[in-house]
Amino acid sequence: MKKKLLSAILMATMTVSLLAGCGEAAAPAPAAEPAATEEAAPAEEAPAAEAEAPAAEAPAGGGKIGVSMPTKDLQRWNQDGANMEEQFKAAGFEVDLQYASNDVQTQLSQVENMISSGCSVLVIAAIEGSSLGEALDMAKESGIPVIAYDRLLMDSDAVSYYATFDNYKVGTVQGTYVKDTLDLDNAAGPFNIEFTAGDPGDNNAGFFFNGAYDVLKPYIDEGKLVVPSGQTKFDDVATPTWGTDVAQSRAENILSSYYADGTELDAWLCSNDSTALGVENALAANYTGKYPIITGQDCDIENTKNMIAGKQSMSVFKDTRTLAAQVVKMVTQILNGETVDVNDTETYNNGVITVPSFLCEPVFADANNYKELLLDSGYYTEDQLK
Ligand code: GAL
Repeated sequence: MKKKLLSAILMATMTVSLLAGCGEAAAPAPAAEPAATEEAAPAEEAPAAEAEAPAAEAPAGGGKIGVSMPTKDLQRWNQDGANMEEQFKAAGFEVDLQYASNDVQTQLSQVENMISSGCSVLVIAAIEGSSLGEALDMAKESGIPVIAYDRLLMDSDAVSYYATFDNYKVGTVQGTYVKDTLDLDNAAGPFNIEFTAGDPGDNNAGFFFNGAYDVLKPYIDEGKLVVPSGQTKFDDVATPTWGTDVAQSRAENILSSYYADGTELDAWLCSNDSTALGVENALAANYTGKYPIITGQDCDIENTKNMIAGKQSMSVFKDTRTLAAQVVKMVTQILNGETVDVNDTETYNNGVITVPSFLCEPVFADANNYKELLLDSGYYTEDQLK
């Protein structure tokens, strides 16, 4: 009952944000470097719902937009690419959509080809944020604006804008869920928790981890939360390529080293769904105690099925249609010479400049609200979740 009440409260708060589409950044984010900072700021009241954004329209003659996605191997990027292609074409643009199979050199040459083939704007979700310097220099020399998509492009002044979700808030939503579900302010404890963060080459991963760890660190410091593996530093809990297999083998090692003696695990804080899936696979084969709280992000299909089946406690919904629409709007504003919508000009320093950004609102999701969030909104069909 308590969990349902908690979910209802979280859902109500977050759904107001969803209705607001892309709203104000909710929590001050730490520096781009992943280092735990002070207690997370309380999430501000969701902004009033924005009026429906007018459909974007390409300038006369349209233009070709280069869209560079990291991989097809993780579900969400397929949706991001498809949404943007559909929405850019509907707005009157040509689209050059490329996927780089998580290979940095491939992405570099794909972006360079987009530049030489005459793309007027580049939209890039980098595999590794600091790996595209040469291509970004080329774009700058050619006067081609670059929008960093969901992942910040690092160490370059050639990045014009950044469009993402409030990454630090994704983490605070996950951390707050663990805090509230274990009732850390009132329960005696101690409770055992483990952490799995994302790819160290992805600037987002530090924000997700910091957002969660900043909520939970005070309880670790007072001993109410215990980390039996002792692994609490970002570099120790990071997952290269966000790989499910990588997360799974690390979780298997931790379970066999620290939980084989019957030690109970109360929570496993995973920064996204692909890593949560790895932890869930490891638990299924190597853990027989009380099932822990497991967090995630992206509402991937497999993880949503696991939420329905009780094998994952929550995820964070980042509607890729919302982000795509925002990027189409920004590209159109750039090409029409209009003021470009941003709602954060302070948080995202990429090592050279602070990139003007638009942060969309992440939304809490669990088995109690997935129907409304994912089915009623048409994000998934019932069959996809069977
Ligand atoms: C992050 C993204 C997340 C996460 C991960 C794996 O940059 O913001 O949604 O899923 O990549 O794709």
